Amino acid sequence: MKFHYSRSAQLLERSRKVLAGGVSSEFRKYNYPHALFYTHGKGSLVYDADGNEYLDFTLSQGPLILGHSHPHVLRSVQDYSASGQLYAGQHIKEVELAEKLNAIIPSAALMRFCLDGSEAVQTAFRVARAKTGKTKFIRFEGHYHGWLDNVCWGISAPSRDALGSPENPEVFPWSAGLPAQTRDESIVIPWNDLGLLQKIVEDNKAHICAIITEPVMCNNGCILPAEGFLEGVRKVCDQYGIACIFDEVITGFRLGLGGAQQYFNVTPDISIFAKAMASGYPISAVVGKRDWMHLIEEGTVIHAGTMNSGNPTVAAALATIEVLENEKPYERMFQYGRKLMKGLEDAATAAGHKILIQGPGPMFNLSFTDLVAAKNYRDTFSFNKPLLGKFISEMHNRGIRIIGRGLWYISAAHTEADIDIAIEKAKEVFEIL
Ligand SMILES: Cc1ncc(COP(=O)(O)O)c(C=O)c1O
Repeated sequence: MKFHYSRSAQLLERSRKVLAGGVSSEFRKYNYPHALFYTHGKGSLVYDADGNEYLDFTLSQGPLILGHSHPHVLRSVQDYSASGQLYAGQHIKEVELAEKLNAIIPSAALMRFCLDGSEAVQTAFRVARAKTGKTKFIRFEGHYHGWLDNVCWGISAPSRDALGSPENPEVFPWSAGLPAQTRDESIVIPWNDLGLLQKIVEDNKAHICAIITEPVMCNNGCILPAEGFLEGVRKVCDQYGIACIFDEVITGFRLGLGGAQQYFNVTPDISIFAKAMASGYPISAVVGKRDWMHLIEEGTVIHAGTMNSGNPTVAAALATIEVLENEKPYERMFQYGRKLMKGLEDAATAAGHKILIQGPGPMFNLSFTDLVAAKNYRDTFSFNKPLLGKFISEMHNRGIRIIGRGLWYISAAHTEADIDIAIEKAKEVFEIL
């Protein structure tokens, strides 16, 4: 089948006249060969407006852990929405969902629901600041915590050298329009260096309210925490009485029902769940230990939102978790992910390419580099992005859809045959690169 994109190109032209850049999220601009329009998806497959069929390893940037259009999710949303959408009040399934998260997530004693990861992250900061009376949070280079002002720093840089010394990095804005003072809300340092973290906290202890980390650095290289690093973060937080915040927007429901905190057996004070929680419906949760979250309970910390926990989103989350509990796809997702990682690595080596594949399996990253391991954001500057772009476009033209920065997601809908197809296509592509 020859892939072509003319219908999407026409729709994009029309769209650009009314949607800024033709899209509703910056990341959607950078699809190959341009922003595309999709018509439907089922299981591991998704179809665009030109009728091209793709094996989807983007899972819509993570949420579709059950694949596209899972019947139980769609039916639950439809059934529960038929009786109402939003009440400016409580409803029964909302409690059921909170009870469920309380049972499966180690740190989820109390929680609130929001609409997306970005605002749940901000809620966590507010709680941390209120409890400690301090304002600065420590975050790590290359970790993504949403697009809002105070986390829009430290996620991009013109080069590795431009980042300067690890002890006192240069921090670049990701966007124009950021108030300069939002840069000072955080101290940004390289990840996976516990000695450095300890020093920075000690030097700044009068100002630090929290340390926030992705438990796996999914957004840049899918880098696993160094041995003992998360435990070390936990310990430093205890030592200084500051909040240990895990941003589980990607790892949540992906490494297991209890997220990375269960997988790594490190319990944060506050954590954020979103993406895979509800199969693509807009709901997130900020969850935490009672010690911290009681500030919201008593109304000292305000958290609000007209659209929070509407019927469709809550039904989608409950249905998604039900399927994950009943089908128990995790072992399979790890196994398929690791098989795909190995298959890609073997195919690249056979064709004479040096690639680095990192990640736990249900998500992983492929990059072209001489490095044998990347341990932080600085290492990702060795990745050959033009070559990756070529690989991704050639895979796309063969019906394999991957996130543009080299990240792959495995869903419960992927089959072993899907994995084999992806490896076969990659073999073809590595040969012609
Ligand atoms: C780790 C992490 N945190 C926060 C966010 C922001 O979530 P959202 O896009 O739902 O606002 C993302 C989004 O990709 C993420 O990957």
